[in-house]
Amino acid sequence: MNKSNRLPRRAAATVAAVAAIKVLRRFWYATVPTDMLADGPRPFTLLGEKIVLFLDGEGRPAALADRCCHRTAKLSKGWSNNGHLTCGYHGWTYDRAGKLVRIPQLSPDQPLPDARVRRALRICMGRAR
Ligand code: FES
Repeated sequence: MNKSNRLPRRAAATVAAVAAIKVLRRFWYATVPTDMLADGPRPFTLLGEKIVLFLDGEGRPAALADRCCHRTAKLSKGWSNNGHLTCGYHGWTYDRAGKLVRIPQLSPDQPLPDARVRRALRICMGRAR
C-alpha cells in the first residue's frame, strides 16, 4: 500500500471501531430481566446507545431510544402509563413502537404531529427461562 493512502493511526482505529459496531448491531442482546421493568421504565446503555426499557399494556417489554422527540429529555426519567411511555418533562406519550400518541397540552380534537422516538437496537424481548 502506498504510504500516502494510509490513515493516521487514530483515524484507522476509529474506522475499525465503527466497523465493529456495525457488525455488533446485527446481533441480539439480552438486557435486564423483565421483572425489573415492573416498577417503571429503566435506562440501559448498549453499544454506546442510550435506550429506555419499559412494559407495554400487555406486559411485553419494549425498547426505545432514551430521548424524547420533543426536547430530548430522557424518557427513562418518565413513567409508564397504560402501557405507554410518558416523558417526565412535558408529558408527551409514546407507544411501544415509539409513535407519539398524546400531547397533554393539546385538546383531544387537535391532530398530533407525526412524530416518533427512534426504536432501539435489536434487543431480545423474550423472557429468560
Ligand atoms: S421533552 Fe419530553 S415532552 Fe418535552
